Amino acid sequence: MPGRWNAAVTAVAKYLPERRLTNADLEKMVDTSDEWIRTRTGIRERRILEKGLGSSHMAIQAARQILDHRGIGPDEIDLIIVSTVTPDMMFPATACLVQDGIGAKRAWGFDLSAACCGFLYALVVGAKFVETGAHRKVLVIGADKMSSIIDYTDRETCVLFGDGAGAVLLEPVEDPETGLLDFLFQVDGAGGKSLYMPGGGSLNPSTHETVDQKMHFVHQDGRAVFKFAVPSMADVSAEILRQNNLTGEDVALFIPHQANLRIIDAAARRMGIGDDKVVVNIDRYGNTTCGTIPIGLTEAVEEGRLKKGDLLVLASAGAGFTWGSALLRWGI
Ligand code: ACO
Repeated sequence: MPGRWNAAVTAVAKYLPERRLTNADLEKMVDTSDEWIRTRTGIRERRILEKGLGSSHMAIQAARQILDHRGIGPDEIDLIIVSTVTPDMMFPATACLVQDGIGAKRAWGFDLSAACCGFLYALVVGAKFVETGAHRKVLVIGADKMSSIIDYTDRETCVLFGDGAGAVLLEPVEDPETGLLDFLFQVDGAGGKSLYMPGGGSLNPSTHETVDQKMHFVHQDGRAVFKFAVPSMADVSAEILRQNNLTGEDVALFIPHQANLRIIDAAARRMGIGDDKVVVNIDRYGNTTCGTIPIGLTEAVEEGRLKKGDLLVLASAGAGFTWGSALLRWGI
């Protein structure tokens, strides 16, 4: 339950690298086809960040835009939370790189790892610091350079992912009906081996052998992930409405994680909402993991799809397994 204040999103931003990797490009790299990728996933192209730049580069670009949009200086930021599965390095945290990159001299920060649910979890954690009155300006970023952990000879994974980042600013509002209203999160660690990167951590530190065995790439059992994700994201999206005595009619916009168009469609159907209320950009960006939801939210704002007082539902499901949803009332 919210404390003295509610936490509301007061600015949004996104960063997508320029370079496009189209389905036609992938046809030349692996045994796949534009038709297969489009019909199975909904993806047409994705963005790829250039070599020599890490996730922090995209996070910093998004963070700078937030400061610009809100008209505030970097020293007004209290806390920076970066959700990512592709930090620039094991440590320091990407949040520290962002803090330095934008010159947020008063801020502290940390990274949060929850794969595709990273941004949602970070949003709620950030909101709690605002609700308690501990902080007034919290920057929550989702950034992933998925191309850095993808094997571009593996057709089962390389068609799915892209690079990108999105960010939001959270600030306190007095209206208890505005901002983050509710959330519903779950994990099931038994699903861990269905989608993971085995190498590079303390269990399998980097060696010639781990590189030869391609342990530093995403490994997934696509069917198992799909079988988990369809009901999980649909259930958690419908359940947050039910527990708030709402129906799909009440929702202005649904912003789901963009992993597969069929997963998105199933969740929207379960909530009883039409396509016009669903944010879809998987066709242009693929799955940017922690980036998908803040990028979708930013595009919705840019396209004028949200107005003050609108209810929106965010939802995600992914590696872990992790899944969750959040209910917000738009306040700007
Ligand atoms: N091009 C052509 N054929 C392919 C490709 C490809 N890129 N990839 C797999 N295939 C083949 C498979 O080898 C299989 O061949 P087989 O029947 O001879 O064994 C065939 O296509 C069909 O495979 P299915 O698994 O039945 O295809 P499905 O309809 O399930 O779609 C997909 C596969 C797209 C991977 C789907 O299972 C999916 O989206 N799963 C979720 C994966 C995902 O989104 N992961 C990330 C989400 S979590 C997160 O965001 C971190």
